[in-house]
This record gives sequence, structure tokens and C-alpha cells, in this order.
Amino acid sequence: MSAGAQPRVVAARVVTGVTTAGRSLSETLPPALDTLDHARDRALVQALVYGTLRFQPRLQLLLGQLLDKPLRKRDAELNGLLLVGLQQISGMAVPDHAAVAATVDAAAGIGHARAKGLVNAVLRRYLRERETLENAVAASPEGRYSHPGWMIRQLQQEWPQHWEQILEQNNLHPPMWLRVNAAAGSRDGWMAMAGAPPSASSPWAPQALRLEQPVDVGALPGFAEGLVSVQDAAAQLAAHLVAPMPGERCLDACAAPGGKTGHLLELCPTLDLTAVDMDPERLALVEDNLNRLGLSASLIAADAATPNQWWDGRSFDAILLDAPCTASGVIRRHPDIKLLRRKADIARLAGLQSRLLDQLWPTLKAGGRLVYCTCSIFGQEGPAQVRDFLARTPDAGLDVEQTAAGWGIDAAPGRQILPGETGMDGFYYACLNKSG
Ligand SMILES: C[S@@+](CC[C@H](N)C(=O)[O-])C[C@H]1O[C@@H](n2cnc3c(N)ncnc32)[C@H](O)[C@@H]1O
Repeated sequence: MSAGAQPRVVAARVVTGVTTAGRSLSETLPPALDTLDHARDRALVQALVYGTLRFQPRLQLLLGQLLDKPLRKRDAELNGLLLVGLQQISGMAVPDHAAVAATVDAAAGIGHARAKGLVNAVLRRYLRERETLENAVAASPEGRYSHPGWMIRQLQQEWPQHWEQILEQNNLHPPMWLRVNAAAGSRDGWMAMAGAPPSASSPWAPQALRLEQPVDVGALPGFAEGLVSVQDAAAQLAAHLVAPMPGERCLDACAAPGGKTGHLLELCPTLDLTAVDMDPERLALVEDNLNRLGLSASLIAADAATPNQWWDGRSFDAILLDAPCTASGVIRRHPDIKLLRRKADIARLAGLQSRLLDQLWPTLKAGGRLVYCTCSIFGQEGPAQVRDFLARTPDAGLDVEQTAAGWGIDAAPGRQILPGETGMDGFYYACLNKSG
């Protein structure tokens, strides 16, 4: 196998793991990258995989036009390789002849040596008939916007003014946002220390910096020492909305991997913080993050929706509920979400979110506050969720002042950030107060 074929083999396998085995990129990509010796190959696989998954709905329709008959189920990796091949030609700066040759060669690497002729014919026909094929595919919404049909219809229904902009934003590369450690210095101080390249700040998140060029986390000056973390500016709003104060008891209810846990403690290092997550492996990441930042919290691996199993009965002054959700607001960062989510997931996750709200509310002291957020743009996981909660919870009220921010759209109740707004991820926030 040629040197160029190996990254295509690895990329085809990762793509197929998502499209046919329903595995997530965060689960499949890191071990696949570990099999490659050269940084250049790892970067290529990353670009091939992200690009192919981002445009999979369109690429699969293109492939459907290029094949006489669909491939058999057991040829799923060959299908994956052809998608990777089409993505290289249509969306990457790989010279056409090199892309075709390396992809043809990779067919043998995935155990389909006999399909070399087919791969060659498909990719060459695409090169010849590209415009006609692309126009035909763009006639359908799935092909034009490269999203599954159910998701396009859902967004059209929920966001009649914004759906097209949302779909376009979802297909862009997200910027890399940093959070400069408030306890360790200022944004300007870190930039001067790092000799950082030109970067933009966020009008809303005071520690956020947007890098024009993404860099490897390990290469960020001061990262290992906790001077800086990687976190989207929209996610950085959470800790500011909680506004933790010295001496308070605070709960981070769905904490892993700990981005917001670390931020809460950076803002208030003496905070008595309990961080719960039901996934012990992910909770270990919270510990790693806090160790890096030199901060600490009580970490509990448990189902936050069953407080009788982990709560010591002492009420919290503040709760952050960054609830599990469809992650429909962060598709640009996680393009596999397009393919892994089903419409039924919205109602299923909304059920979990309402259970978490109901079960955590009694652990909040009278006069306390709860910030509810999701990285979703579906109403059932945002305003509809909070509206129903307020209706069934007599001592819960919306903190109008706290929720009346300059960012986002008034979602009544709460605020909705759509993906791309001042470079941010899509997020929903509502600040709730407990009377008494
Ligand atoms: C959106 S992520 C949290 C991100 C985190 N707050 C951060 O900023 O890094 C949701 C988390 O909820 C956890 N989770 C899901 N269901 C849960 C439950 N019933 N109880 C506690 N944690 C749960 C998942 O394991 C996942 O880590």
C-alpha cells in the first residue's frame, strides 16, 4: 500500500464507524489517529473525516448517482472510502490525480482490491461530470444543505426566519475559542506572554479569545499550567450567569468533561463546588482538568436525577444544569451529530432534562438560583422545557434581569444563541430563581 493510501484507509474506517455502526467521532477518531506515525497523516485523516461527515448527506447522494446499483451492506467500508474520495476532490486542496490514485490504492487496504476499477471509474466520472452531478444533487434539500431531511424540516418549522442561516453555519469550520484563566491573569496578559497571533475577543465573555488559526492544544503557551483552556465563548457564558460568590455551595449537575466546572472555580476559587456526572470515565476528565488548573471540587459519579443517592441534604445556593441534549447547536464542531441523531431523540432527551430539573430543584435553597442550559437549538430542549417547568413548579421564577442579555435571541423564556452568532456555538440559557 502506498504512503498516501493509509490515511484514506483509516479515514474510510472512521467514517463507516459513524455512518453504519452509529459510533461517535469522539469515540472512534482518537484511537484511529493513534495508529498513525506522522503528524501530517493525522492532520490529513482529521480533515478527511470531518469534511466527509460534514458533507455526507450530499456526498452519499452524489455517490448514488455515480453507482449503477447501491453497494451491498457488507461493502460499507468501500462506500465509506468512496465518500472520502469524493470529499477530497470536491472539498479539499488535494490535486485530483493524487486523490484518485491514493483512494484507488486504499481500496486494497480495506480488503476490496477487486474494487479498484470501480473506485477509479466513480472518481473519474465525478471529475468529468462534476457540474451536472452537483446541480442534480442540489435540487433536493438534503443535497443542497447537506443535512438529513428530518433535521432540515424541524429547523424550517422552528426557525422560519433563520433555518437557512443555521444550516449554512453548521457546515462551516468552527473557530477555536480560548478561555484565559481569570484567576491567573488577564486576556491581554496571556496574549502578550504567548506572543499570540491576532485574535478577536468576545463582546459577551470576558475571558474569551478567538484564534484566527486553530492550534494544537499542547502548543498553547501556558495550557499545561492552567493559564488557558479551550472553550467556546457561548459555553463560557454559563459560569458568568451562575455568578458564584465566595462561601457559596454550588452544584455543577452534569459536569463532565469539566469545562464549566473549571470556569466556575476560576471565577471563585473558594467556592464549595460539587460536580456530578453519571459517567465515571468522563468524570475522570473533570479531575484532570481541575488538576491542570490547580483547583478542586467534590466529584461524584452518580445520576443527578436521583439526589437521594448522592446528596448530603445541605441545600445549594446555586446550581448549574448543563443538561444532556441533542447537541444540535454544536454540529459545526461535531458533524457526526447530523448522522447519529434521530428525530425521536429530541423528545427522549427532553424527558431526561425535565426529570433532572424536577429532581434537582428540591436541592436548591429558597432564594437560590439555577442556570439551565443546553447546546441545542430545538425548542423542546430550551424554551418549551423551561416554560413547562415554570408552569408545574410554583416556587420557580424566571430571573428576567439575568436572562436579559445582549447576546442571543429572546426565546421567552430564556435566550437562544444560534450557531455562528459572534462566532459562538448554538446554546440555550435560562436563569431561574427559587422564591422563599
Ligand atoms: C453537555 S455535557 C456537560 C458538559 C460540561 N458541563 C462541560 O462544560 O464540560 C452533559 C453531561 O451530562 C452527563 N449526564 C447525562 N445524564 C446524566 C445524569 N442523569 N446525571 C448526571 N450526569 C448526566 C453526561 O455524561 C455528560 O457528561
